[in-house]
Amino acid sequence: MSDPIRFLLGTSEREIRDADPNMTVLQWLRTRAEQPGTKEGCAEGDCGACTVVVGEPDTGGRIRYRAVNGCILFLPALHGKQLITVEHLRQPDGALHPAQQALVECHGSQCGFCTPGFVMSMFAMYHNEDRPGRQRIQDVLAGNLCRCTGYRPILDAAERMYDLGDGDAFSARESETAQRLTALRGDDTLHV
Ligand code: FES
Ligand code: FES
Repeated sequence: MSDPIRFLLGTSEREIRDADPNMTVLQWLRTRAEQPGTKEGCAEGDCGACTVVVGEPDTGGRIRYRAVNGCILFLPALHGKQLITVEHLRQPDGALHPAQQALVECHGSQCGFCTPGFVMSMFAMYHNEDRPGRQRIQDVLAGNLCRCTGYRPILDAAERMYDLGDGDAFSARESETAQRLTALRGDDTLHV
């Protein structure tokens, strides 16, 4: 019997016992957690459709957010971390997250299949980078592919989101979340 995996799904605490070590985060989200907002494209780490964000506390009590491909991330790697998907971005007042609102305003989505992945990569960038330049935005979003919109409006949206508010609900809860994760993690951290 293996130790339970404990993590935050958005802000909700989850504990999974006897997890299948071969189950990916994408499979778990779509088949067990009933959260199908994260999409499956290539299922081999190439297209970015499955992008989720994993938050992990640093030594200073802040959260480091990383965009990762859920199709190649295995469930046990979530222990002591926060898993954030496109389902969790709605703000407390019901508004879209700046990353989502900017994509709407810049017409950065057509069929929408790639959009949750772009949103999550932009969400991580929103937290990690302060108004990066166009080249840096291109580099950050290089792992997300779009087959129908064209990239210019998506890159425009990644610039625009910084004009749509200063911080979000995740920023407001950051120190509380760091404390919760530290308590969940205990001494047996598994690193992604
Ligand atoms: S589904 Fe394509 S990178 Fe995961
Ligand atoms: S909006 Fe269709 S693949 Fe990007």
